[in-house]
Amino acid sequence: MKLLLAFIIAASIIYADVLCKPVDEETKFILLEEGDMAPTVLDCEYNLDDTESFHTLKWFRNDKAIYQWIRGSQPAPIPDFKNYVDSSYESSKDPNKQYSSLALINPTISSTGDYKCIVQTQTKTIVVHKSVQVIDVRNYTLSLKRYQIQNETQLECKVSNVFPKPKLTIESEGIDITKVLTNPPKEDEDGYFNATTFAAVYDNDDDTDYHKCIMTFDGYPQNFTVVVASGSSACERCIDFRLLLISCLLYFWLERLHVFI
Ligand SMILES: *[C@@H]1O[C@H](CO)[C@@H](O)[C@H](O)[C@H]1NC(C)=O
Ligand SMILES: *[C@@H]1O[C@H](CO)[C@@H](O)[C@H](O)[C@H]1NC(C)=O
Ligand SMILES: *[C@@H]1O[C@H](CO)[C@@H](O)[C@H](O)[C@H]1NC(C)=O
Ligand SMILES: *[C@@H]1O[C@H](CO)[C@@H](O)[C@H](O)[C@H]1NC(C)=O
Repeated sequence: MKLLLAFIIAASIIYADVLCKPVDEETKFILLEEGDMAPTVLDCEYNLDDTESFHTLKWFRNDKAIYQWIRGSQPAPIPDFKNYVDSSYESSKDPNKQYSSLALINPTISSTGDYKCIVQTQTKTIVVHKSVQVIDVRNYTLSLKRYQIQNETQLECKVSNVFPKPKLTIESEGIDITKVLTNPPKEDEDGYFNATTFAAVYDNDDDTDYHKCIMTFDGYPQNFTVVVASGSSACERCIDFRLLLISCLLYFWLERLHVFI
């Protein structure tokens, strides 16, 4: 009986937890580009009855007000953000919603944040959450270096000048990675990151191996990769072959000069 009660309590706590959590909005990613970019529009979804049509609407980023609109008037941009919000953007013909969306322009890495829209009517308050993550890889470098020390191949993957914090993963096709060392990413004064990851693999066969470094950002679907090839016995044979050819030519030439006689 006690067990059943405990189970019911636990189940209802889990259930309540699921119900009461704010809806986990999908993160909107903004990939920064050179030059002008289309505005990023965050919609504030709500429904009002005609009887409660009077309302004010405010958008916040990380709890700081960045935009406000009172129904029936023009939206009032908040001075600090007037270059980052297009307050002439009309989201709807519906007078209850006309200027309800937030149109973000001139995005920078600081446009990243938790956004929320608060709609206030005479009778109720509606809150809508949005999450924005800016990705900046306009000026980044990603490199993978390979050092061969006897039968150990050491790999060093380096990225610089990206936002947000990157994650680096080294993969070697068909070979187990024996050691991995990842340093915490370093952030510069502008908020951009550098990161380095090392890996070591043992490489005994003569095949060419492909090593790959993959950079990812949490939740972002696109990967960035760099590949190097190693252990190519083909190239060693190639050098052998060239040496052989040179020796042959040399022999031929020396023989011609009757050096051997
Ligand atoms: C990229 O880096 C170069 C040199 O560090 C700098 O001059 C340039 O402004 C940067 N571009 C961007 C888009 O950050
Ligand atoms: C690598 O080489 C060393 C010495 O040459 C040897 O002792 C070791 O077993 C080798 N490791 C592997 C994984 O083959
Ligand atoms: C990041 O890497 C770049 C290029 O290697 C370097 O110029 C810069 O100083 C590094 N920044 C930090 C914070 O380590
Ligand atoms: C990105 O990398 C992850 C893990 O490394 C992998 O599961 C995923 O398939 C990759 N996605 C793309 C588009 O390459």
